[in-house]
Amino acid sequence: MIQLSILKELPTECTTVVIPVLKAENLSESILNPFFPDGNPVAQRLASEIKGEVKETTVFFSEYKKVYVIGLGDKPTFNTVLSAFKNLAFNQKTKLSDHIALDFSHTDALDTPENIQAAVNGLMLSTYNIGIYKTDEKQTPSDLKITDAHVYIVSNRVGNTESAQRGASIAETQMRVMDLVNSAPNKKIPEVLADWAITSGKTFGYAVQVFDKADCEENNLHALLSVNAGSAFEPRFIIMEYKPDNAIKKIGLVGKGVTFDTGGISIKPASNMHLMKSDMGGAAAVFGAMELAAKLKLPVHLIGIVPSTENMVDGKSTKPGDVIGSYLGKTIEVIDTDAEGRLILADGLAYMKKNFEPDTIIDLATLTGSVIRTLGYAAAGLFTNNDALCDELIKAGEFTGERLWRLPIWEDYKDDLKSDVADLANFSGKTYAGAISAAKFLEVFIDGHTRWAHLDIAGTAMASNDLGGQRVATAFGVQLLVHFLMSLNNGA
Ligand code: BES
Ligand code: ZN
Ligand code: ZN
Repeated sequence: MIQLSILKELPTECTTVVIPVLKAENLSESILNPFFPDGNPVAQRLASEIKGEVKETTVFFSEYKKVYVIGLGDKPTFNTVLSAFKNLAFNQKTKLSDHIALDFSHTDALDTPENIQAAVNGLMLSTYNIGIYKTDEKQTPSDLKITDAHVYIVSNRVGNTESAQRGASIAETQMRVMDLVNSAPNKKIPEVLADWAITSGKTFGYAVQVFDKADCEENNLHALLSVNAGSAFEPRFIIMEYKPDNAIKKIGLVGKGVTFDTGGISIKPASNMHLMKSDMGGAAAVFGAMELAAKLKLPVHLIGIVPSTENMVDGKSTKPGDVIGSYLGKTIEVIDTDAEGRLILADGLAYMKKNFEPDTIIDLATLTGSVIRTLGYAAAGLFTNNDALCDELIKAGEFTGERLWRLPIWEDYKDDLKSDVADLANFSGKTYAGAISAAKFLEVFIDGHTRWAHLDIAGTAMASNDLGGQRVATAFGVQLLVHFLMSLNNGA
């Protein structure tokens, strides 16, 4: 565990110092003064070379210390600071040393709670070790991982201790969530996800109720059961609730928990099928938000629902053409068994609406390849029936760097859901607007709720980044949801 402390002066025991600076024509020499004797011409020359541009990193050594001056540009946002510290830490890893000081004391405009939270969060994320199953224990990704590592925040504001701690707490949960998404599909069957939630709930103080297969049958979760039909492992329907006394708003989160998606009988091509272990990325985001709401004691009544199953090929699997029931009572013709996410979410959403009636419902799901063809990996698709909620979520995403882009759910797309034999079909059969028709399908199951948003995170749950050679988990949605929940009660 990293020890965090806030100080007013640079501690002598730190060996690495990171100094964030704003863009400036002339860097104030006083920033470098502690490292060079007064009037040193080298310090003057160095100061004149530092411009403070985004992505500019200057490194120098002075007595017993290695100093990084990192540029943050003109008006750095939370996301600028987060990315700068994440990049620095990723690139330097073991070179950063285990006694590191982040010195915010020189620039008043940078010495804010938000920037300190972002910096600590970015730094901590660099300690993530993707080698979950490697048997070689020497795989330490960063010196910060060692037991007595110390991060000193040099700040003139005492209140910033809480922000530093919050940055660290969020990073811890983000990394636990990344572990879940990166973990192998044979190691995270629905029962394992449910156990994760139970343990998290016990540790951080929120209630968890888990339906096994018999409970799902008793509760008419027919759509979830139909996706589970081909799996050797039972489904789980996981219900989490955090209800502090000071809660004002009631928010419901629903996450797609498909622990592996073969496509079912409408089977997927083999190439990259292994990445379908990430088809529980929405569930992971909901778990992360639940854990953090409780850990950070956010004043919000939060309910999380995760329907979880594999989507497998078997003699018992649901077939194209099969008609299934659902929790809401509507019948669904399964045209394509690979459109399974919307089926399990249909039950999750309808259960949430009927049993909890939250003010706001947000679902997150790695739902369609179509959203990737539309937005690439740069943003998640946002679908909502509420303009105010749209603004709040887009703002939260801009802030944390988890970008959302709104796509329409006009009535024009309603025909995509038509079935001759059942109330609706799970696939339009069309090759276009797939992310939209999926959202349109989900809309039926919120059953008239007026503040709902669906986030299609198929393109953002995994990314090619510095953490590994393959596509790796991002914990997309966790920081975004936490920020959204924190902003709720500050404002309206
Ligand atoms: N899990 C997939 C969507 C997905 C694709 C996630 C790529 C991450 C990366 C989903 O269940 C799926 O297969 N969707 C189909 C729906 C289609 C059959 C209507 C798709 O988008 O191709
Ligand atoms: Zn699928
Ligand atoms: Zn899927």
